[in-house]
Amino acid sequence: MAVADQVILGFVTVAATSITIENLPVRTRKRLPRYPLPALRMARLAVAQSSRGQGIGKRLLRFAFGLAHEMAERIGCVGVVVDAKASAVKFYEDYGFERLDVVAGTLSDCPVPIPMFLPLDSIPKERYP
Ligand SMILES: CC(C)(COP(=O)(O)OP(=O)(O)OC[C@H]1O[C@@H](n2cnc3c(N)ncnc32)[C@H](O)[C@@H]1OP(=O)(O)O)[C@@H](O)C(=O)NCCC(=O)NCCS
Repeated sequence: MAVADQVILGFVTVAATSITIENLPVRTRKRLPRYPLPALRMARLAVAQSSRGQGIGKRLLRFAFGLAHEMAERIGCVGVVVDAKASAVKFYEDYGFERLDVVAGTLSDCPVPIPMFLPLDSIPKERYP
């Protein structure tokens, strides 16, 4: 969570998930087994409208990247998946996420999210906040 003066400026939520090899980009399938693979799902990422464009989203994303590396070290993690809003696809693409060819379950009154994936070896292993 990004907080300043007790005001929440943004937050990211994550959950452990799994992904099957058939749903991964072909390039990232090498040497992976055929059973469901552990991955980190970014469930929600949002920054308050008045605080956007100040690098908070980037920092929250990097925090999630750090969790993906921690998960990889402890129990395994092949990468980060996200169901991106159409308006955020470019944001994720800029960090290397690729679109996945899977159909996500969606509520009929919501815009269709775009499943995306970032393999662990594309996530820089730096020190995350
Ligand atoms: C997407 C969102 C989290 C970005 O947060 P933010 O704090 O404004 O982003 P940052 O200031 O950290 O921007 C980081 C970079 O991404 C770029 N960027 C931000 N939002 C973008 C968008 N929607 N599309 C493309 N690029 C975007 C910025 O220009 C910046 O680029 P730079 O590093 O080259 O300067 C925020 O706009 C938001 O909460 N949107 C509504 C909810 C949403 O769409 N969440 C994601 C849905 S899955």
